[in-house]
Amino acid sequence: MHEHDVIVVGAGGAGLRAAIAAQEEGADVAIVSKLHPVRSHTGAAEGGINAALREADSWEDHAYDTMKGSDYLGDAPAIETLAQDSPEEVIQLEHWGMAFSREEDGRVSQRPFGGLSFPRTTYAGAETGHQLLHTMYEQLVKRGIEVYDEWYVLDLAVSDEDDPEDRTCHGVVGYDIQSGNIEGFRARDGVILATGGLGQVFDHTTNAVANTGDGVAMAYRAGVPIEDMEFIQFHPTSLPSTGVLISEGVRGEGGILYNSEGERFMFEYGYASNDGELASRDVVARAELSEVNEGRGIEDEYVHLDMRHLGEERITDRLENILHLAKDFEGVDALEEPMPVKPGQHYAMGGIETDENGETCIGGLYAAGECACASVHGSNRLGGNALPELIVFGARAGHHAAGRDLGEAEITTGKRGEWESGDVETPVAPGEAGISGADAVADGGAAAEGSGLSPDELVARATERTDRRVDALLENDGRNHSEIRSDVQESMTQHVNVFREEDGLKQALRDIRDAREAYQNVGVADQSRTFNTDLLHTIETRNIIDIAEAITLGALARDEFRGAHWRKEYQERDDENWLKHTMLSWNDGSPELWYKPVLLEGDEKRYEPKIRSY
Ligand code: FUM
Repeated sequence: MHEHDVIVVGAGGAGLRAAIAAQEEGADVAIVSKLHPVRSHTGAAEGGINAALREADSWEDHAYDTMKGSDYLGDAPAIETLAQDSPEEVIQLEHWGMAFSREEDGRVSQRPFGGLSFPRTTYAGAETGHQLLHTMYEQLVKRGIEVYDEWYVLDLAVSDEDDPEDRTCHGVVGYDIQSGNIEGFRARDGVILATGGLGQVFDHTTNAVANTGDGVAMAYRAGVPIEDMEFIQFHPTSLPSTGVLISEGVRGEGGILYNSEGERFMFEYGYASNDGELASRDVVARAELSEVNEGRGIEDEYVHLDMRHLGEERITDRLENILHLAKDFEGVDALEEPMPVKPGQHYAMGGIETDENGETCIGGLYAAGECACASVHGSNRLGGNALPELIVFGARAGHHAAGRDLGEAEITTGKRGEWESGDVETPVAPGEAGISGADAVADGGAAAEGSGLSPDELVARATERTDRRVDALLENDGRNHSEIRSDVQESMTQHVNVFREEDGLKQALRDIRDAREAYQNVGVADQSRTFNTDLLHTIETRNIIDIAEAITLGALARDEFRGAHWRKEYQERDDENWLKHTMLSWNDGSPELWYKPVLLEGDEKRYEPKIRSY
């Protein structure tokens, strides 16, 4: 068994920042990640990092823009923490040598991004995430932080008390992708989940293939509530054939969206008469699809994003990466022609419920970055607010796990019994929904052993259980995971997309439950233990099913239109009934729905919900 003070799962921006922070506190910290750190999806982030750095700007304005962008579903303590801490974190990155783009006078450059009242997005060309990842990886190497890369964490070692709030997480179980060994990792002080996004739940996404929602699914099954899962961001400018991201930075620099008639539709049809292309992402994504639905799309599918008028010099200086992406993935020379773009799944606003210190309701278990929900983004994230979230909340989780006192959090976690409960659409019997096939073999054994085990014994027990689960998957001569996975992805893209309606959501739920049934008999054809991607993808597919179900249940329950969640039957934001977070708890495989109120009370003011227009 491996043993460290703090174990960070995932090596993207949040994971690296968390590990560095824990090490700064003197902790023996290790990262366990299914990818090498510099292959993490943070490297694909293009546009930038919002931080109020200039005198004419303020953290208060950043907080206000973020709350408005969230459509008043973000929690003020988390939003204010983000806005207050991000300047210091950006300056820290600069001191670590990050290659930011700069002005003539040497200051770090900032550009406009959607929904911002000040151009506060710092950037490194159109490869900000890549620069950020490499800068922090250098720190990791310099500090000698241990990385178990190409180790896939399959489970958490959590004690068995009835109430999740009484449970403690003592470590994780990792699968060494190279050797096939399954080993326990004991964490003396804390486990930090930083596993990133869940884009593979959809079949058109800007996310990497590794983004399968593993951390969210593991935490959910261990008893941590997951929050606001229905709020999925569809980025307005992904390439139609692959989903590859074309940064909002293009529009920030002055890029223009046109329909098939050559009209600048954001203004022409009044989608955002003030901010046009730089309205918030949910607004632009809906506008693009409305144009397609009105017959003004190109090839009935996409619109054009034109940056030719910016000129070659400016483009190569600030957006060079975009030229390569457009050429390599769509065959378009963006200096000569407009780029075809359409909305693609990009980001999950919801995730593992945490407070502003990254703590979940399970002792010793933290989450940070996209897999977490503090909640900073509410029902819609502003562009440029993901990277500051990674570094701000990664740092806080790392410091806190390693023992630094960050003060008492204002956001409460857990406490399901204190709040309003809701009804799940077509409930399933306990045990029927989540535990299937090979998983039932493993979990059945664990339950019989009971609690009262030492931390080491708990990690050993979780390791044995995982071993049994993997053996059972390898031994089963059942159906391959890939069809099951693509059925879910296609249904989610068809029915749980930018525009949602009740019949479609119900169809998606049926498809997901069919997939769950099919997964009961899933098997792995490749029997080897070395680099067995068939096995890994099979395990990921279970996570995809659980996450897809959570997103769809949340979307069905929320009968209002807020932020990225548009419902055909409910065309208004309903503050009277819906200023509350959608919470899902795992009850032996049967999702339980409940709600907790949004916190609009900031340090010095209350953020009164207003009509949101751009
Ligand atoms: O468009 C972009 O460059 C993406 C930025 C973000 O999601 O924050």
